[in-house]
Amino acid sequence: MTLIAHISDLHVSRHDFDEETFMNAAVEINNLDPDMIILTGDITNHGYYLEFEQAKKYLAMFEAPLFAVPGNHDSRNLGYQTFEETIGERSWKLTMDNNFSVMGLDSSSPDEDKGHIGTPQHMWLEHQLDEGVVNENFIIVALHHHIVPIPQTGRERNVLSDAGDILKTLTTHEVDLILSGHKHVPNIWKINNTLIVNAGSLCSTKLRGKIKNSYMVYNITDDEIEIFLNEVNGEKFLFGKYSRNTL
Ligand SMILES: [Fe+2]
Ligand SMILES: [Fe+2]
Repeated sequence: MTLIAHISDLHVSRHDFDEETFMNAAVEINNLDPDMIILTGDITNHGYYLEFEQAKKYLAMFEAPLFAVPGNHDSRNLGYQTFEETIGERSWKLTMDNNFSVMGLDSSSPDEDKGHIGTPQHMWLEHQLDEGVVNENFIIVALHHHIVPIPQTGRERNVLSDAGDILKTLTTHEVDLILSGHKHVPNIWKINNTLIVNAGSLCSTKLRGKIKNSYMVYNITDDEIEIFLNEVNGEKFLFGKYSRNTL
């Protein structure tokens, strides 16, 4: 069994970050004792150096290993450089016990809100996925921008600009899970044999309607994957359950 917590859109800043909600979320997630935490971007609100320094202190409160990709907000104000200095590589791959791979992609562009993967990163992704298919890995790909439009988010503006090509690569290689954020709205789509999950915002005050701060938890066994939607300081419920035979 592998337990993964998926958090997104912290927006660490003076005005759009709710510190108390973050602290509660950190306690909840540490109590779950996940194998890893995946953070799908918008760690900061403006990409300011000071925001990254603060974010680094907050992220250090998590006890599990944490892997993050940048969001559009992180790449503002030279934040794409600060991200590398304070958080880590902007795209990466890790393999756990040779049977489980997670890849992080940088879908951000400096000082732009749109999402874009681009040809060099796409080629790198294809190469990594070719290896994964050969090894029959359980494969997770994390990126900030949504690849498929999300309900309840109004007029579509920021879907990945090369979404079609990336979606084709991910689904034809039978990636098991695609993790995104950006819209601050939790959602699951299933396309072919791939689950596409968007996490809500962990602790930002930038919320739509009555949607609460939340994070996702994935309980992955040999037979199935359970996806829990955990509201911070609120309800925790099964959001989706899928047999791995059909994945
Ligand atoms: Fe965001
Ligand atoms: Fe975003």
